[in-house]
Amino acid sequence: MSPTLSALLYLAASVAFIMSLRGLSSPETARAGNFWGIAGMAIAIVTTLVQPNMHVSFWMLLAMAIGGGAGLFIAARIEMTALPQLVAAFHSLVGLAAVLVAVAAFYSPTSFGIGIPGAIKLGSLIEMGLGTAIGAITFSGSIVAFAKLQGLRSPALEPMPMQHPINAALGATCVVLLVWFCLTGDELALWLLIAATLVMGWFLIIPIGGADMPVVVSMLNSYSGWAACGIGFTLQNTALIVTGALVGSSGAILSYVMCRGMNRSIFNVILGGFGTDAGAGAAAGGAKKEQRPVKAGSAEDAAFIMKNAASVIIVPGYGMAVAQAQHALREMADLLKKEGATVRYAIHPVAGRMPGHMNVLLAEANVPYDEVLELDEINRDFAQTDVAFVIGANDVTNPAAKTDPKSPIYGMPILDVEKAKTVLFVKRSMASGYAGVDNELFFRDNTMMLFGDAKKVCEEIVKSVGGGGH
Ligand code: TAP
Repeated sequence: MSPTLSALLYLAASVAFIMSLRGLSSPETARAGNFWGIAGMAIAIVTTLVQPNMHVSFWMLLAMAIGGGAGLFIAARIEMTALPQLVAAFHSLVGLAAVLVAVAAFYSPTSFGIGIPGAIKLGSLIEMGLGTAIGAITFSGSIVAFAKLQGLRSPALEPMPMQHPINAALGATCVVLLVWFCLTGDELALWLLIAATLVMGWFLIIPIGGADMPVVVSMLNSYSGWAACGIGFTLQNTALIVTGALVGSSGAILSYVMCRGMNRSIFNVILGGFGTDAGAGAAAGGAKKEQRPVKAGSAEDAAFIMKNAASVIIVPGYGMAVAQAQHALREMADLLKKEGATVRYAIHPVAGRMPGHMNVLLAEANVPYDEVLELDEINRDFAQTDVAFVIGANDVTNPAAKTDPKSPIYGMPILDVEKAKTVLFVKRSMASGYAGVDNELFFRDNTMMLFGDAKKVCEEIVKSVGGGGH
């Protein structure tokens, strides 16, 4: 294949990746976005395999078949709620790949056209060094993020005293090793750099709390993109450079969007301990409050209230995803619409555990897109709404975010559900949400708790509304 044709094909793959990102930015176009991504990747892989200097061996094809098969198998079986840790696990592999490619290029520079052993070009050493360092940080950091999201517990995942000063010293050491490697191309410097950055990735993520892991995963996603980009320069592969830059920048933008949704800075996320033991302590401290009486109702009560409502706003949260209640919920909404109510959905930017989590689930249940509104679009309407139906959401409705400067969620914009005439909270217990803070709304006069699994409660409400209820 001529260099011009392969450059053109790589360009086509890059355009397909941009189309993919564009498509994935909305549930309406997400399927098409996925298609573009697959098409771009297929073009990039085939173009790489038919390069004139490429010797396609049986082992390469076998590795691709095993990797592709494993990906297909895992993706088909994964639960929606486990997606964040799956993404973290996949990122760790991108980081590892970057390190391995850099090591291969270091020991066999002639095959990569970057010099001869012991005399690698300075530019290539810099690309290799950066790719290795970022790749190793991504690898070990993603493993910690995976473990935390999976709820695994181990002393190795606990922060140690003076963690931040230790991290600062380690960061400085990594920079010194990187400079040493780039200036000398020394073998020992490379391995010390790999070791130090592996520890750095681990230590960097340890102090970050569970609730902030989605931001961290997205940040590591960004790192893995930049690592791939660095390696793309070493391999002189334009598709890898462009793809790496796209992943790097989109991951960084996503982290920013999530931080903005929680009204926090990225430094606060990395240095703070939101969702760590401090948050859990707040929850434990609130245990006394749980003794206060709350108004609990049945599915029939809820059906009765909503049948008589002219307007209902549904607020889904993480619990809806856990219960996979979206289909039963849509059925309930359809019945209420038949009864004459206006039904809409209010989506908080950080509801659930990843951006767009709720939108994807509602789209899966064929909820019409025009009924699904963002916080800014709908928040003012709660005051004129009869019922706010909060299903498996908690933190995103918690007024402490507005009123309690000591609360870990202070400053996060919230959905003003308390302004509705009646607030129905569907959840299994009085337990707090992911940030570990109590929600004062459960005790309000206009609140009725509907204790139970979100899917079950919706099914019971459907039965009551459909069967005539009261
Ligand atoms: P949460 O505040 O975590 O509350 C979810 C609630 O769902 C829990 O209180 C839980 O109460 C209930 N629940 C769990 N399983 C259930 C089931 N099977 N049936 C019914 N209820 C169930 O969720 P949220 O309101 O969606 O807020 C999201 C949180 O994640 C925020 O703190 C946010 O900052 C954080 N976060 C999100 C993101 C993104 S991008 N989405 C990123 C970073 C951080 P019970 O145990 O009593 O049932």
